Amino acid sequence: MTNSRAERELALDFLRVTEAAAIESAKTMGQGDRKHSDHVAVEAMREVMDSVPMRGRIVIGEGERDEAPMLYIGEEVGGGNFSDEARAEFPEVDIAVDPLEGTNLCALGANNAIAVLAASERGGLLNAPDIYMDKIIVGPSCKGAVDIEAPVADNLKNIARRLGRDVEDLTVICLDRPRHKQLVADVRAAGARIRLISDGDLSAGISAAVAGTNIHALMGIGGAPEGVITAAAMKCLNGEILAKFVFDPERLGVDRTKVPPKEEAIERIKGMGITDPDKIYDTNDLAPGRKVIFAATGVTDGSLLRGVRFFGEGKRTHSVVMTTDNKSIRFVDTVHVEGGPDAVIRF
Ligand code: FBP
Repeated sequence: MTNSRAERELALDFLRVTEAAAIESAKTMGQGDRKHSDHVAVEAMREVMDSVPMRGRIVIGEGERDEAPMLYIGEEVGGGNFSDEARAEFPEVDIAVDPLEGTNLCALGANNAIAVLAASERGGLLNAPDIYMDKIIVGPSCKGAVDIEAPVADNLKNIARRLGRDVEDLTVICLDRPRHKQLVADVRAAGARIRLISDGDLSAGISAAVAGTNIHALMGIGGAPEGVITAAAMKCLNGEILAKFVFDPERLGVDRTKVPPKEEAIERIKGMGITDPDKIYDTNDLAPGRKVIFAATGVTDGSLLRGVRFFGEGKRTHSVVMTTDNKSIRFVDTVHVEGGPDAVIRF
């Protein structure tokens, strides 16, 4: 990405991309078929992506080329609707996508499913494989106050001090998984409140960095790709994510069948250019880009975004688009009008 104007314009183009994915997956809400919900989100995202004036490359997507027909890692996207001459002028962009974050949430009609992507100049987003990461995420006032290797009680004390409140007044959000038994026990023992969620640690992590959501930290193990996209949001929100790959199947529990053996996972991350598997990553390690864009659209209602609403003459989407360059956080309420010239637009 070359300049802030181009970045701002791309941000609005990416908004169209997440809106399209959100609309298509929202049509399937509650149908109980998470794969189908994901599939339609991927198709919609892929199609609109080609109308974006960029030379884009997917760095976090639906998986390796042989397992994903669209939005696979390394796929070139964007610029499809333009001439070769025009394309030559377009910025080179790396893109991390999660067309439907919270596939189960959408399939069940539960809160907080979103369509999301992050973008940056080449090399600006860590090419993280689809394995797990331990994460701790806090907002701007708690930057530097947490340590992913410190006892939970110490982190909570430090967060409480920074926020000028008691530990009892904190709420920690965490995926409800057997692997978090000890973490949950530690949070409870420290006296903080806890919100257990069935899925969606990406939108939950963003809530932890936004004042007024009544979430003060996210803790626990979730997907590494989600961690990178969250880091892009943290750069725009001045929040902080600390994260570490987790390979040990004992720590992960038995709830994800695709956990590769430790050696294989380490080989995989080395193959992606990551030399130290035990490194503690901070926001800038995960999203080192100088110019980062984050866009998300609500699929179902959530703490930050409303879900897609359908009405006779169109649809309404609610999104957030953020950029590092001019530090803008835009909440965008879009009415997609489909009716004829007499379509009624409601406030
Ligand atoms: P999907 O969108 O792929 O369904 O992932 C949802 C999610 O809950 C993420 O938010 C989280 O990082 C990850 O799954 C946790 O993985 P697992 O369900 O295996 O614990």
